[in-house]
Amino acid sequence: MSKTIAVIPGDGIGPEIMNATLRVLDALDCGLSYDHVDAGMIALDKHGDLLPAATLGTIARHSVALKGPLTTPIGGGFSSINVQLRRHFDLYANVRPAISFPGTRSRFDNIDIITVRENTEGAYLAEGQTLSEDGETALSSIRVTRSGSERIVRYAFEMARSKGRKKVTAVHKANIIKTSSGLFLDVAREIAKEYPEIEFQEMIVDNTCMQLVMNPYQFDVIVTTNLFGDILSDLCAGLVGGLGLAPGANIGKDASIFEAVHGSAPDIAGKNIANPCALLLAAADMLDHLEMTEKGTRIRRAIRSVLENAREQVTPDMGGSGTTESFADALVAEVSR
Ligand SMILES: NC(=O)c1ccc[n+]([C@@H]2O[C@H](COP(=O)([O-])OP(=O)(O)OC[C@H]3O[C@@H](n4cnc5c(N)ncnc54)[C@H](O)[C@@H]3O)[C@@H](O)[C@H]2O)c1
Repeated sequence: MSKTIAVIPGDGIGPEIMNATLRVLDALDCGLSYDHVDAGMIALDKHGDLLPAATLGTIARHSVALKGPLTTPIGGGFSSINVQLRRHFDLYANVRPAISFPGTRSRFDNIDIITVRENTEGAYLAEGQTLSEDGETALSSIRVTRSGSERIVRYAFEMARSKGRKKVTAVHKANIIKTSSGLFLDVAREIAKEYPEIEFQEMIVDNTCMQLVMNPYQFDVIVTTNLFGDILSDLCAGLVGGLGLAPGANIGKDASIFEAVHGSAPDIAGKNIANPCALLLAAADMLDHLEMTEKGTRIRRAIRSVLENAREQVTPDMGGSGTTESFADALVAEVSR
């Protein structure tokens, strides 16, 4: 298969981990070509714009993008580039797998949970925010729609079906937030009936937090609204040892953007010690999306094998004494076997 994807190296450690990731993709012989475009601080410096129109055009043309972390300048009226991308392409599903890997510091082994978070509405957007003149009263509203709930719940069930997953848990707070969370839960119950082979469970968000910490093995796929998904997906990343191995996908009807969950790590940028695995796992999810699942699986296996057998080559955050480059060398050797 030959396919061109948009590649956004990003800021800080972005170019280093992107370089490592593309080396592994090339070694896999995926038939991918790369159209490099700028976003973030590098784009502001070069083109006077954090998110140039040409970058949006390139993502739209290829419909799939692999993105490094972007720095949004603090203050100065800059809004988050990631939020802009989600809005522009209506990337309604944020998919975040949390999978255990060997050699990570975590409380549990063998975790495999996917959080599917609604990405375009709900409390997270904090629409209609006001603060009274005396500064004593703040208001924000929550907008949840039937169509928005339908498409995210359907996405979660379709994904579960295609990946052979057994259970979908809809997480809500419908007992208290009866309108918006209630609508989401009603829709989830309706759609679940269309997938009788997949177990459906509903769970209140506070109980979900406790259950995830006490017995995470009861979860398989979690589907939830924007703000709950934001919090729960980080909780799940914590269960498997933090953000070092946490990929994220933002999926829309016409475009999808795959990225690492972590940021641009300015404290270690340019030092050749950034761990490329989160971006590489995002690339593996991108290959699944492009129906190259066998290649995606090879990436995940290679990471597992290098973490188990070549610890001296992995980066310090994973307990190794290697560099981004030596980590990439080991991964390239592994996928080329
Ligand atoms: N998706 C994105 O584009 C995204 C996400 C989060 C933060 N950001 C941006 O990134 C910048 C820095 O944010 P932050 O410091 O809060 O979070 P961060 O994730 O960049 O860094 C937090 C800590 O984790 C470490 N770390 C992160 N990724 C690592 C990796 N691959 N290998 C080894 N160590 C790693 C860093 O060194 C730092 O100590 C901010 O400008 C923020 O806006 C972007």
